[in-house]
Amino acid sequence: MTSVFGHGNKQGYAYGRDHNENWVRLEGVLADLEEGTGALVFGSGMAAIAAVIQSCGVGRRIVAARDAYTGTRALLRHLAEEGQCAVEFVDATDLDAVALACRGASLLHIETLGNPLLTVPDLQACAEIAHQAGAIAVVDNTFATPLLVQPLTLGADVVVHSLSKYIGGHSDLMMGAVITNASDLLPKFQYQRSNAGAIPGQLETWLALRGIRTLDVRLRRQTESAMFLAERLRGLAGVGRVHYPGLVEHPQHDLAARQMRGGFGAMISVELDCSAETAESFCAATRLWTNATSLGSVESLLERRGRWAGEEYLPAGLVRMSVGIEAAEDLLRDLTQALVAAGVSSPAGSSVPAPAPAD
Ligand SMILES: Cc1ncc(COP(=O)(O)O)c(C=O)c1O
Repeated sequence: MTSVFGHGNKQGYAYGRDHNENWVRLEGVLADLEEGTGALVFGSGMAAIAAVIQSCGVGRRIVAARDAYTGTRALLRHLAEEGQCAVEFVDATDLDAVALACRGASLLHIETLGNPLLTVPDLQACAEIAHQAGAIAVVDNTFATPLLVQPLTLGADVVVHSLSKYIGGHSDLMMGAVITNASDLLPKFQYQRSNAGAIPGQLETWLALRGIRTLDVRLRRQTESAMFLAERLRGLAGVGRVHYPGLVEHPQHDLAARQMRGGFGAMISVELDCSAETAESFCAATRLWTNATSLGSVESLLERRGRWAGEEYLPAGLVRMSVGIEAAEDLLRDLTQALVAAGVSSPAGSSVPAPAPAD
Protein backbone atom coordinates (compact mmCIF):
# COMPACT_ATOMS: atom_id res chain seq x y z
CA MET A 1 0.00 0.00 0.00
CA THR A 2 1.87 3.08 -1.17
CA SER A 3 1.21 6.12 -3.30
CA VAL A 4 4.82 7.34 -3.30
CA PHE A 5 8.00 5.70 -4.62
CA GLY A 6 11.62 6.68 -3.89
CA HIS A 7 13.49 8.03 -6.89
CA GLY A 8 15.69 5.55 -8.66
CA ASN A 9 13.69 2.39 -7.90
CA LYS A 10 14.32 -0.37 -10.41
CA GLN A 11 10.75 -0.46 -11.81
CA GLY A 12 10.90 3.26 -12.55
CA TYR A 13 7.78 3.99 -10.48
CA ALA A 14 7.25 7.60 -9.45
CA TYR A 15 3.72 8.25 -8.22
CA GLY A 16 0.67 6.14 -7.40
CA ARG A 17 -1.62 7.62 -10.02
CA ASP A 18 0.65 6.37 -12.80
CA HIS A 19 1.80 2.94 -11.66
CA ASN A 20 1.93 0.51 -8.84
CA GLU A 21 2.92 -3.08 -8.31
CA ASN A 22 -0.63 -4.37 -7.58
CA TRP A 23 -2.04 -3.01 -10.84
CA VAL A 24 0.87 -4.46 -12.81
CA ARG A 25 0.21 -7.93 -11.38
CA LEU A 26 -3.50 -7.83 -12.15
CA GLU A 27 -2.86 -6.39 -15.60
CA GLY A 28 -0.49 -9.24 -16.37
CA VAL A 29 -3.15 -11.80 -15.43
CA LEU A 30 -5.87 -10.04 -17.45
CA ALA A 31 -3.61 -9.73 -20.51
CA ASP A 32 -2.84 -13.47 -20.27
CA LEU A 33 -6.52 -14.41 -19.90
CA GLU A 34 -7.55 -12.32 -22.90
CA GLU A 35 -4.45 -13.21 -24.97
CA GLY A 36 -3.53 -9.54 -25.14
CA THR A 37 -0.09 -8.00 -24.98
CA GLY A 38 -1.06 -5.23 -22.57
CA ALA A 39 -3.73 -4.29 -20.06
CA LEU A 40 -4.62 -1.35 -17.85
CA VAL A 41 -6.94 -1.38 -14.86
CA PHE A 42 -9.29 1.50 -14.05
CA GLY A 43 -11.49 2.65 -11.18
CA SER A 44 -14.65 1.17 -12.75
CA GLY A 45 -15.86 -0.43 -15.95
CA MET A 46 -17.21 2.94 -17.09
CA ALA A 47 -13.84 4.59 -16.45
CA ALA A 48 -12.23 1.99 -18.75
CA ILE A 49 -14.89 2.47 -21.45
CA ALA A 50 -14.67 6.28 -21.18
CA ALA A 51 -10.87 6.15 -21.53
CA VAL A 52 -11.17 4.15 -24.77
CA ILE A 53 -13.86 6.46 -26.18
CA GLN A 54 -11.98 9.63 -25.17
CA SER A 55 -8.81 8.28 -26.80
CA CYS A 56 -10.67 8.32 -30.09
CA GLY A 57 -10.38 12.12 -30.19
CA VAL A 58 -12.95 14.87 -30.73
CA GLY A 59 -15.11 14.96 -33.86
CA ARG A 60 -14.90 11.25 -34.64
CA ARG A 61 -17.73 8.95 -35.61
CA ILE A 62 -18.51 6.13 -33.20
CA VAL A 63 -20.79 3.17 -33.89
CA ALA A 64 -22.15 1.20 -30.94
CA ALA A 65 -24.47 -1.73 -30.40
CA ARG A 66 -27.95 -0.47 -29.66
CA ASP A 67 -28.23 -2.97 -26.79
CA ALA A 68 -24.89 -2.07 -25.23
CA TYR A 69 -24.76 -1.35 -21.48
CA THR A 70 -27.05 1.57 -20.57
CA GLY A 71 -24.15 3.57 -19.08
CA THR A 72 -22.11 3.24 -22.27
CA ARG A 73 -25.03 4.37 -24.40
CA ALA A 74 -25.72 7.27 -22.03
CA LEU A 75 -22.08 8.40 -22.21
CA LEU A 76 -22.04 8.22 -26.01
CA ARG A 77 -25.34 10.09 -26.28
CA HIS A 78 -24.02 12.77 -23.93
CA LEU A 79 -20.77 13.19 -25.92
CA ALA A 80 -22.78 13.43 -29.15
CA GLU A 81 -25.10 16.06 -27.64
CA GLU A 82 -22.04 18.04 -26.53
CA GLY A 83 -20.76 17.91 -30.12
CA GLN A 84 -17.67 15.89 -29.19
CA CYS A 85 -18.44 13.00 -31.53
CA ALA A 86 -21.09 11.61 -33.87
CA VAL A 87 -22.76 8.43 -32.65
CA GLU A 88 -24.86 5.80 -34.39
CA PHE A 89 -26.47 2.89 -32.58
CA VAL A 90 -26.91 -0.27 -34.58
CA ASP A 91 -28.23 -3.83 -34.29
CA ALA A 92 -24.85 -5.57 -33.94
CA THR A 93 -26.34 -8.91 -35.04
CA ASP A 94 -27.20 -7.38 -38.45
CA LEU A 95 -23.87 -7.35 -40.30
CA ASP A 96 -25.22 -5.30 -43.24
CA ALA A 97 -26.40 -2.63 -40.81
CA VAL A 98 -23.01 -2.70 -39.04
CA ALA A 99 -21.19 -2.30 -42.37
CA LEU A 100 -23.40 0.62 -43.39
CA ALA A 101 -23.00 2.37 -40.03
CA CYS A 102 -19.22 1.84 -39.93
CA ARG A 103 -18.56 3.92 -43.06
CA GLY A 104 -16.36 6.79 -41.93
CA ALA A 105 -16.29 5.56 -38.33
CA SER A 106 -13.21 5.40 -36.16
CA LEU A 107 -14.56 3.08 -33.45
CA LEU A 108 -17.06 0.21 -33.27
CA HIS A 109 -18.18 -0.72 -29.74
CA ILE A 110 -20.04 -4.00 -29.26
CA GLU A 111 -20.63 -6.46 -26.43
CA THR A 112 -20.08 -10.22 -26.41
CA LEU A 113 -23.64 -10.66 -25.14
CA GLY A 114 -26.16 -7.86 -25.65
CA ASN A 115 -28.05 -6.45 -22.72
CA PRO A 116 -30.64 -7.54 -21.64
CA LEU A 117 -31.78 -9.88 -24.44
CA LEU A 118 -28.47 -11.76 -24.64
CA THR A 119 -28.05 -11.20 -28.36
CA VAL A 120 -24.82 -12.60 -29.81
CA PRO A 121 -22.98 -10.55 -32.45
CA ASP A 122 -20.49 -12.28 -34.76
CA LEU A 123 -17.29 -10.84 -33.26
CA GLN A 124 -14.98 -11.91 -36.06
CA ALA A 125 -17.25 -10.51 -38.79
CA CYS A 126 -17.79 -7.25 -36.87
CA ALA A 127 -14.03 -6.80 -36.37
CA GLU A 128 -13.42 -7.36 -40.10
CA ILE A 129 -16.11 -4.84 -41.01
CA ALA A 130 -14.63 -2.28 -38.60
CA HIS A 131 -11.13 -2.78 -40.02
CA GLN A 132 -12.34 -2.46 -43.61
CA ALA A 133 -13.85 0.90 -42.62
CA GLY A 134 -10.62 1.97 -40.91
CA ALA A 135 -12.14 1.74 -37.43
CA ILE A 136 -10.95 -0.09 -34.33
CA ALA A 137 -13.15 -2.85 -32.91
CA VAL A 138 -13.82 -2.63 -29.19
CA VAL A 139 -15.61 -5.48 -27.40
CA ASP A 140 -17.06 -5.30 -23.91
CA ASN A 141 -16.50 -8.87 -22.65
CA THR A 142 -17.97 -8.37 -19.17
CA PHE A 143 -20.92 -10.79 -19.59
CA ALA A 144 -18.88 -13.66 -21.05
CA THR A 145 -15.45 -13.27 -19.43
CA PRO A 146 -12.30 -14.51 -21.21
CA LEU A 147 -13.09 -18.04 -20.04
CA LEU A 148 -15.99 -18.22 -22.50
CA VAL A 149 -14.91 -15.83 -25.28
CA GLN A 150 -11.59 -14.17 -26.15
CA PRO A 151 -12.49 -11.33 -28.54
CA LEU A 152 -8.85 -10.40 -29.31
CA THR A 153 -8.31 -13.87 -30.81
CA LEU A 154 -11.31 -13.18 -33.07
CA GLY A 155 -9.84 -9.95 -34.41
CA ALA A 156 -10.97 -7.29 -31.92
CA ASP A 157 -8.41 -4.57 -31.16
CA VAL A 158 -9.52 -3.75 -27.64
CA VAL A 159 -11.43 -5.60 -24.92
CA VAL A 160 -13.03 -3.72 -22.05
CA HIS A 161 -14.36 -5.15 -18.81
CA SER A 162 -16.26 -4.21 -15.76
CA LEU A 163 -14.23 -6.19 -13.22
CA SER A 164 -17.01 -5.33 -10.74
CA LYS A 165 -18.93 -8.33 -12.17
CA TYR A 166 -17.63 -11.89 -12.80
CA ILE A 167 -13.92 -11.15 -12.39
CA GLY A 168 -14.36 -9.73 -8.87
CA GLY A 169 -17.26 -12.12 -8.42
CA HIS A 170 -18.48 -11.13 -4.94
CA SER A 171 -20.24 -7.73 -5.37
CA ASP A 172 -17.59 -6.10 -3.21
CA LEU A 173 -15.46 -4.06 -5.61
CA MET A 174 -15.75 -1.56 -8.46
CA MET A 175 -13.08 -1.78 -11.15
CA GLY A 176 -12.61 -1.90 -14.89
CA ALA A 177 -9.95 -2.90 -17.40
CA VAL A 178 -8.81 -2.37 -20.96
CA ILE A 179 -6.85 -5.13 -22.68
CA THR A 180 -5.32 -4.86 -26.13
CA ASN A 181 -2.69 -6.26 -28.46
CA ALA A 182 -2.32 -2.94 -30.27
CA SER A 183 0.89 -1.41 -28.93
CA ASP A 184 0.02 2.03 -30.34
CA LEU A 185 -3.28 2.20 -28.41
CA LEU A 186 -2.05 1.32 -24.94
CA PRO A 187 -0.15 4.61 -24.34
CA LYS A 188 -3.30 6.57 -25.27
CA PHE A 189 -5.29 4.65 -22.65
CA GLN A 190 -2.45 5.10 -20.14
CA TYR A 191 -2.53 8.85 -20.80
CA GLN A 192 -6.28 8.91 -20.10
CA ARG A 193 -5.86 6.97 -16.86
CA SER A 194 -2.96 9.03 -15.51
CA ASN A 195 -4.41 12.38 -16.43
CA ALA A 196 -8.14 11.85 -15.96
CA GLY A 197 -7.18 9.93 -12.82
CA ALA A 198 -9.89 7.24 -12.86
CA ILE A 199 -7.67 4.79 -11.00
CA PRO A 200 -8.55 1.76 -8.90
CA GLY A 201 -7.62 1.37 -5.24
CA GLN A 202 -4.98 -1.08 -4.08
CA LEU A 203 -7.38 -3.13 -1.98
CA GLU A 204 -9.80 -3.52 -4.90
CA THR A 205 -6.90 -4.63 -7.07
CA TRP A 206 -5.95 -7.30 -4.57
CA LEU A 207 -9.61 -8.39 -4.28
CA ALA A 208 -9.88 -8.69 -8.06
CA LEU A 209 -6.75 -10.87 -8.16
CA ARG A 210 -8.23 -13.03 -5.42
CA GLY A 211 -11.53 -13.23 -7.33
CA ILE A 212 -9.79 -14.47 -10.47
CA ARG A 213 -8.48 -17.50 -8.55
CA THR A 214 -12.02 -18.89 -8.35
CA LEU A 215 -13.40 -17.52 -11.63
CA ASP A 216 -13.25 -20.86 -13.40
CA VAL A 217 -15.01 -22.74 -10.59
CA ARG A 218 -17.66 -20.05 -10.11
CA LEU A 219 -18.39 -19.54 -13.77
CA ARG A 220 -18.56 -23.26 -14.52
CA ARG A 221 -21.19 -23.72 -11.82
CA GLN A 222 -23.08 -20.53 -12.75
CA THR A 223 -23.14 -21.49 -16.43
CA GLU A 224 -24.38 -25.02 -15.71
CA SER A 225 -27.09 -23.67 -13.40
CA ALA A 226 -28.12 -21.07 -16.01
CA MET A 227 -28.60 -23.81 -18.62
CA PHE A 228 -30.63 -25.85 -16.12
CA LEU A 229 -32.78 -22.85 -15.20
CA ALA A 230 -33.31 -21.67 -18.78
CA GLU A 231 -34.58 -25.12 -19.78
CA ARG A 232 -36.94 -25.37 -16.80
CA LEU A 233 -38.16 -21.78 -16.94
CA ARG A 234 -39.45 -22.09 -20.50
CA GLY A 235 -41.97 -24.66 -19.28
CA LEU A 236 -43.28 -22.74 -16.26
CA ALA A 237 -46.81 -21.30 -16.18
CA GLY A 238 -46.71 -17.51 -16.46
CA VAL A 239 -43.31 -17.49 -18.18
CA GLY A 240 -43.27 -16.50 -21.85
CA ARG A 241 -40.12 -16.21 -23.90
CA VAL A 242 -36.83 -17.20 -22.29
CA HIS A 243 -33.75 -15.45 -23.70
CA TYR A 244 -30.62 -17.56 -23.26
CA PRO A 245 -28.04 -18.29 -25.98
CA GLY A 246 -27.83 -21.92 -24.88
CA LEU A 247 -31.41 -22.62 -25.96
CA VAL A 248 -31.83 -23.91 -29.52
CA GLU A 249 -34.59 -21.38 -30.22
CA HIS A 250 -32.26 -18.41 -29.43
CA PRO A 251 -31.82 -16.56 -32.76
CA GLN A 252 -28.00 -16.74 -32.58
CA HIS A 253 -27.70 -20.13 -30.87
CA ASP A 254 -25.50 -21.69 -33.60
CA LEU A 255 -23.17 -18.70 -33.62
CA ALA A 256 -22.98 -18.74 -29.81
CA ALA A 257 -22.13 -22.46 -29.91
CA ARG A 258 -19.22 -21.71 -32.28
CA GLN A 259 -18.05 -18.49 -30.64
CA MET A 260 -18.35 -19.42 -26.94
CA ARG A 261 -16.34 -22.16 -25.29
CA GLY A 262 -17.46 -24.10 -22.26
CA GLY A 263 -20.96 -22.71 -21.93
CA PHE A 264 -23.31 -19.89 -22.78
CA GLY A 265 -22.84 -17.69 -19.73
CA ALA A 266 -24.91 -17.17 -16.62
CA MET A 267 -27.33 -14.42 -17.66
CA ILE A 268 -30.95 -15.20 -18.56
CA SER A 269 -33.85 -12.88 -19.39
CA VAL A 270 -37.46 -14.05 -19.16
CA GLU A 271 -40.64 -12.41 -20.34
CA LEU A 272 -43.32 -12.86 -17.69
CA ASP A 273 -46.91 -12.77 -18.97
CA CYS A 274 -47.93 -9.93 -16.65
CA SER A 275 -47.90 -6.18 -16.01
CA ALA A 276 -44.89 -4.17 -14.84
CA GLU A 277 -46.37 -4.00 -11.33
CA THR A 278 -46.85 -7.77 -11.12
CA ALA A 279 -43.32 -8.37 -12.44
CA GLU A 280 -42.00 -5.99 -9.74
CA SER A 281 -43.99 -7.97 -7.12
CA PHE A 282 -42.44 -11.19 -8.48
CA CYS A 283 -38.90 -9.75 -8.08
CA ALA A 284 -39.75 -8.61 -4.54
CA ALA A 285 -41.23 -12.02 -3.63
CA THR A 286 -38.05 -14.06 -4.18
CA ARG A 287 -36.17 -15.08 -1.06
CA LEU A 288 -32.95 -16.55 -2.42
CA TRP A 289 -32.60 -14.21 -5.38
CA THR A 290 -31.90 -10.56 -4.51
CA ASN A 291 -33.93 -7.91 -6.33
CA ALA A 292 -31.00 -5.76 -7.46
CA THR A 293 -29.23 -4.57 -10.57
CA SER A 294 -25.75 -5.79 -11.55
CA LEU A 295 -24.49 -9.28 -12.28
CA GLY A 296 -21.66 -11.76 -12.04
CA SER A 297 -21.60 -12.33 -8.32
CA VAL A 298 -21.75 -15.55 -6.30
CA GLU A 299 -25.26 -14.58 -5.20
CA SER A 300 -28.15 -14.64 -7.67
CA LEU A 301 -29.68 -11.29 -8.65
CA LEU A 302 -32.74 -10.42 -10.68
CA GLU A 303 -34.55 -7.26 -11.71
CA ARG A 304 -37.25 -5.95 -14.02
CA ARG A 305 -35.27 -4.14 -16.70
CA GLY A 306 -38.02 -1.78 -17.81
CA ARG A 307 -37.52 0.09 -14.55
CA TRP A 308 -34.48 1.80 -16.09
CA ALA A 309 -34.63 4.90 -18.28
CA GLY A 310 -33.81 3.87 -21.84
CA GLU A 311 -35.16 0.33 -21.40
CA GLU A 312 -38.88 1.16 -21.43
CA TYR A 313 -39.05 -0.36 -24.94
CA LEU A 314 -38.70 -3.83 -23.41
CA PRO A 315 -41.75 -5.98 -22.58
CA ALA A 316 -43.14 -4.76 -19.23
CA GLY A 317 -42.64 -8.17 -17.62
CA LEU A 318 -39.05 -8.72 -18.77
CA VAL A 319 -36.88 -9.84 -15.86
CA ARG A 320 -33.10 -10.24 -16.17
CA MET A 321 -31.41 -12.82 -14.00
CA SER A 322 -27.78 -13.19 -13.01
CA VAL A 323 -27.35 -16.77 -11.83
CA GLY A 324 -25.12 -17.25 -8.79
CA ILE A 325 -23.57 -20.32 -7.21
CA GLU A 326 -26.49 -21.42 -5.01
CA ALA A 327 -28.04 -24.85 -5.66
CA ALA A 328 -29.87 -24.62 -8.99
CA GLU A 329 -32.88 -26.58 -7.66
CA ASP A 330 -33.26 -24.07 -4.81
CA LEU A 331 -33.09 -21.17 -7.26
CA LEU A 332 -35.81 -22.76 -9.39
CA ARG A 333 -38.00 -23.48 -6.37
CA ASP A 334 -37.67 -19.86 -5.25
CA LEU A 335 -38.67 -18.54 -8.68
CA THR A 336 -41.65 -20.89 -8.74
CA GLN A 337 -42.92 -19.77 -5.34
CA ALA A 338 -42.40 -16.09 -6.29
CA LEU A 339 -44.45 -16.57 -9.49
CA VAL A 340 -47.33 -17.83 -7.34
CA ALA A 341 -46.84 -15.25 -4.56
CA ALA A 342 -46.96 -12.39 -7.11
CA GLY A 343 -49.95 -13.88 -8.91
CA VAL A 344 -48.09 -14.45 -12.19
CA SER A 345 -49.12 -18.09 -12.07
CA SER A 346 -51.66 -20.01 -10.00
CA PRO A 347 -50.56 -22.68 -7.47
CA ALA A 348 -52.02 -25.41 -9.72
CA GLY A 349 -49.91 -24.34 -12.69
CA SER A 350 -46.74 -23.85 -10.74
CA SER A 351 -45.33 -27.35 -10.40
CA VAL A 352 -41.77 -27.63 -11.67
CA PRO A 353 -42.05 -29.29 -15.10
CA ALA A 354 -39.87 -32.07 -16.47
CA PRO A 355 -36.88 -30.70 -18.37
CA ALA A 356 -37.37 -29.86 -22.02
CA PRO A 357 -34.85 -31.67 -24.24
CA ALA A 358 -31.50 -29.93 -24.20
CA ASP A 359 -29.64 -29.11 -27.36
C1 LIG B 1 -21.59 -4.88 -19.82
C2 LIG B 1 -21.18 -3.81 -18.85
N1 LIG B 1 -20.15 -3.03 -19.16
C3 LIG B 1 -19.75 -2.05 -18.33
C4 LIG B 1 -20.40 -1.80 -17.15
C5 LIG B 1 -19.94 -0.68 -16.26
O1 LIG B 1 -19.15 -1.20 -15.25
P1 LIG B 1 -18.97 -0.48 -13.82
O2 LIG B 1 -20.29 -0.56 -13.13
O3 LIG B 1 -17.88 -1.28 -13.17
O4 LIG B 1 -18.58 0.92 -14.10
C6 LIG B 1 -21.49 -2.59 -16.79
C7 LIG B 1 -22.20 -2.33 -15.51
O5 LIG B 1 -23.24 -2.90 -15.24
C8 LIG B 1 -21.90 -3.62 -17.66
O6 LIG B 1 -22.96 -4.39 -17.38
